[in-house]
Amino acid sequence: MADLTHGSDRLTAEEKLRLLVDFGTRISSELHLDKLLDIIAQQITQMLDVGRCTIYLKDEAKNELWSKIAQGKGLEHTEIRIPLNSDGFIALVARYGQTINLPNAYDDPRFSVDVDMVTAFRTHATIAVPLKNNSDEVLGVVQASNKSNGTPFDKNDEGLLRLLATLASGSIEIAQLYQEIRVAQLETIYRLAVTAEYRDQQDTRQHLKNISIIAYLLALALGMSKTEAELIKNASPLHDIGKVALADNILLKPGKLTPEEFEIMKSHTIYGGKILEGAHSKVLQMAHKMSLYHHEKWNGSGYPKGLKEEEIPLEARIVTVADVFDALCVFRVYKKAWKTEEALNYIIEESGKSFDPRVVAAFKKIYPSVKRLYAHVSVNQPAHKDASVEKEVS
Ligand SMILES: [Fe+2]
Ligand SMILES: [Fe+2]
Repeated sequence: MADLTHGSDRLTAEEKLRLLVDFGTRISSELHLDKLLDIIAQQITQMLDVGRCTIYLKDEAKNELWSKIAQGKGLEHTEIRIPLNSDGFIALVARYGQTINLPNAYDDPRFSVDVDMVTAFRTHATIAVPLKNNSDEVLGVVQASNKSNGTPFDKNDEGLLRLLATLASGSIEIAQLYQEIRVAQLETIYRLAVTAEYRDQQDTRQHLKNISIIAYLLALALGMSKTEAELIKNASPLHDIGKVALADNILLKPGKLTPEEFEIMKSHTIYGGKILEGAHSKVLQMAHKMSLYHHEKWNGSGYPKGLKEEEIPLEARIVTVADVFDALCVFRVYKKAWKTEEALNYIIEESGKSFDPRVVAAFKKIYPSVKRLYAHVSVNQPAHKDASVEKEVS
């Protein structure tokens, strides 16, 4: 990249063009909104050689503008919210879709000093341009403040900022849609998981949350990438989805299951496998393996297929440990809550029997973090005489 420290007006036409191409390339490959906004703000800060660049996006539901990412001293990752109907110049730019250029911010009644007060930043010259999509709808506002040479923003700066805003708005819109789809997908998965767990447990949400966190920590401790660990975290709540197919007299039975009933209970793995079979998304493909194989045991004595050792997919071996540990540590109608140390000892005892020794070793490493998750759990709840590990890990 060219030396950007001289401001836009000192760059040659060729350099400007190169920077614009570079800007377009960088922002078009980023689908995560937060990261994208960060990159855009950084690039604009450099290209205009300013003290701060802030990007505000519309929050239609709240009728506000918000900004999470802002460069400049003291403002990194701070969320700023501005009512869309206010008289401040950022809100005016968003409402009317016109650029506002303030040579001296503090002399203009439309400028609010609130953000400066919070961040100990003194705005001198500032300019804000609308971020518009192809349909000319305003998505937000880009604000740049304080050129390093101390001069107000001129027509060149304004033109460049408008051009960058136009380039940025396409990528922002795609990233917003991508985020919406991602959030919708995760929310659907989670609510589907809650549906299944709701039927036989009282502390459903906590159970799913604990399992997700433990599975995530285990994946990282086993050396998986953050992306893989995230997938495991998001897929793990679906491990018992097959329970939706079980009859109430089995699923809700408070006491110990008869051998015949237990055989039926085991089929939740098969049902889970069928529900998630042939999924296209990575997260559901992973959830498929987890739901089908989370009761397989390392020594081959589990179900439904009696797979052993590496035949069992790693993600299932991970969720098994997380599921059993959590089942032991929480109160259920048929068992008391075990102390985390007792549950840890059980996991260690079962290394090489129920559990993959490598996963157990990883569990020992993450145990201090896991223990903190259960700090609130009381072990003094009434115990049921029919407590059984078989049922609690189902
Ligand atoms: Fe479970
Ligand atoms: Fe299960």
